[in-house]
Amino acid sequence: MINLVKIEKASLQDVSRAKTLTELENLQTKYLGRKSELSLFLRSLKDLPPEERAKSGQIANELRRKLETEMGNKAQQLKEVELARKIEQEKIDVTAPGKRVEHGHLHPLTIVRREIEDIFRSMGFDIVEGPEVETEWYNFDTLNVPADHPARDMQDTFWLKQSEESQKDPHIHLLPRTHTSAVQVRYMGKHQPPFRIIVPGRVFRNEATDATHEMQFYTFEGLMVGKDVSLANLKGVLQFFANKFFKDETEVRFVASYFPYTEPSVEVFMKGVSGKLKGRWIEMAGAGMVNQKVFKAAGYALGEYQGFAFGMTIDRLAMFKYGIDDIRLLYGSDLRFLKQF
Ligand code: DAH
Repeated sequence: MINLVKIEKASLQDVSRAKTLTELENLQTKYLGRKSELSLFLRSLKDLPPEERAKSGQIANELRRKLETEMGNKAQQLKEVELARKIEQEKIDVTAPGKRVEHGHLHPLTIVRREIEDIFRSMGFDIVEGPEVETEWYNFDTLNVPADHPARDMQDTFWLKQSEESQKDPHIHLLPRTHTSAVQVRYMGKHQPPFRIIVPGRVFRNEATDATHEMQFYTFEGLMVGKDVSLANLKGVLQFFANKFFKDETEVRFVASYFPYTEPSVEVFMKGVSGKLKGRWIEMAGAGMVNQKVFKAAGYALGEYQGFAFGMTIDRLAMFKYGIDDIRLLYGSDLRFLKQF
């Protein structure tokens, strides 16, 4: 015969001692589950004689309800304890020192390029881009660089691998552009003067590298064309640029020179403002009045327009401005160097 008093005592004691919800769940199965003594007894009531059935049934059901209530209360209590423990464990210590986040920043060449663009934009120039892989036609032919000019031969120019046939046609023969001047006729073929643009971008030369030479570097082309653009305008624009870029500290001077695509041509010198270059005259750009042969290649009527063009190396401007004495530092990814900007 089942001893309900004993079950009550044992179960209540077990429940009061339970320390975790899992323990409590096990007790629930043990005392109230389908196979528990109590459940089995309740299921067997139907076999008892009626008067005994009523009495035993009442006692057993009371015990079941009591146990359910006790276990429910205990579960609630354990949940609260658990929550309090979690809150304690996961507390955020706002006074603990944070983890340092490494910030990336712009490369000095990007900083300088953006500064150049801002200055020219303030003078009404548009920023234009052209392809890094260019046809021989735009890189050389349209710029009046004769077919036998040394700049075209393998020493200075990388050429793409192409069939003999393709190499003969300057419209198909391809090279990584050697200068941003290649964009001049490309742009003029699609736009009518007046306009003023600068074209920043990467160029490639088949040269040995040293402190002042890289096989690839950044330049920007300037081109201003209209009815009455003069060499004096070029000087004014470059002087304005230098004043802004070097904060009024440098001087600009022109020295007569030669380029196939300008007539007359000049070399532009600026006076160093910092580091080892301070006080020294440094060649900063090639420039001149656009050769009418270039306008002809662009499809403009001869003599209708005048314009100036110049090409300046962004790397050099950066070196000049920050007193960097080796161009290779700009491409070396050495953080000790890059973090200074
Ligand atoms: N293309 C020349 C170079 O890369 C620079 C240059 C010289 C550009 C004279 C010009 C120019 O537009 O008129 O060395």
